[in-house]
Amino acid sequence: MKSVYIRGNASLYGEVTIQGSKNAALPIMAAALLVPGVCVLRNCPRIADVEYMCRILESIGCRVDREGREIRIDAAQLSDSRLPREYVTRMRSSVMLMGPLLGRLGEVSLSHPGGCVIGDRPIDLHVKTLSRMGAACRDDGTQLSASVSGLRGTSLRLDYPSVGATENVIMAAVTADGVTCLENCAQEPEIGWLCDFLIHCGAQIEKKSPGRLLIRGQTGLHPCTYTIPADRIVAGTYLCACLAAGGEALLKGAPEGENEALERTARRMGAGLERRQDSLLVKRTGPLLSPGEVETGSFPAFPTDLQSPLLVAMAQAEGESSMRETVFNGRFGVVEELNRMGAGIEVQKDTARVPGGRRLAGGRVRAAELRGGAALVIAGLCAQGETLVENRSYVDRGYEDICRDLRLLGACVQDG
Ligand code: UD1
Repeated sequence: MKSVYIRGNASLYGEVTIQGSKNAALPIMAAALLVPGVCVLRNCPRIADVEYMCRILESIGCRVDREGREIRIDAAQLSDSRLPREYVTRMRSSVMLMGPLLGRLGEVSLSHPGGCVIGDRPIDLHVKTLSRMGAACRDDGTQLSASVSGLRGTSLRLDYPSVGATENVIMAAVTADGVTCLENCAQEPEIGWLCDFLIHCGAQIEKKSPGRLLIRGQTGLHPCTYTIPADRIVAGTYLCACLAAGGEALLKGAPEGENEALERTARRMGAGLERRQDSLLVKRTGPLLSPGEVETGSFPAFPTDLQSPLLVAMAQAEGESSMRETVFNGRFGVVEELNRMGAGIEVQKDTARVPGGRRLAGGRVRAAELRGGAALVIAGLCAQGETLVENRSYVDRGYEDICRDLRLLGACVQDG
């Protein structure tokens, strides 16, 4: 299954259930290291990154049993603080194992996760905050290691509300000695889910105000059974697909209150959105309008992960629009492929200008990263003719089965 084949020019009509959240599952799996016992995680998405995380946990001494979407992690015998290079270099989010390993074993070492195709991805904030909690960190550019004889709580203020750095501090702080007050932390919903999981395990975490957490360190977290929430980015991707291609899609289990910036934008573009119990009905049967200027940012601003999927809808909307990317400095890579399909997007520095009113033409395009790859699949749905999106493995890192889901929405999409 190396590609996705799409027969274009069709609207979406149907119902799809939204999978469990990748960005909630990964840190919660990491946090399970803090618990010397068996944590049961339900509704884990069946995606490559979750699989890599299982392998990493096994390689450091955890017992990991997987049955369908349920993963049981027993970290009682956790013994090794060295993360395997093979997976660390494949999955950047392995950096979020630093906090829990320092908490449990007092040491961690991993290959430098490096940059990636969506821009520079330094880890200075992770290192700085963990150092403030007493860890001695060494980073020679290729290998990163840290050790501590006992993490201690302290007052910290992040220079930027990094999601990963916030998660690392939370995981380090829950078993640290003393109280940690973390300011200017990320407010993405996944932070709330991580805290919720840890609180179920007995951790003491209080949200004092937006962007401010108070964590009382303690010994002795206990195991729990936890259900991973639905993936707001997957729901948002399918919302963008319906917006771009037109039609009526029921997104079953789509999270409520986690995608408001996107939902406001979609309404400006002419979509009708209706909450039906735990589902979201998306209707776009009239003209597609320009949303004007959109800018990505930290939650609750428009999510960078949905920037590329929205670009596809913008390309076809009536009138010009623009997208400013403020989170990752290299996240317009997909524009080149979209332009090969006729999108006519121009990128200057951090802003993409989208002329709109374009009819995309199907063709052979290549995914180079996860969300850009999903955007190309959406472009294929809207395009005249047939599209083949190559390098499907990037898309599989975040979507259980994008072909299955889009077929449920009535599209003609196949494994290529
Ligand atoms: C997480 C999400 C990713 C999402 C991103 C932003 C997971 C597994 N991934 O990634 O899907 O796109 O949040 O919402 O949850 N930065 C630094 N120094 C650091 C850390 C980050 O400069 O030490 C910068 C990054 O280069 C980037 C920005 O901060 O420009 C945001 O990164 P961050 O919030 O840390 O994203 P991730 O946690 O890696």
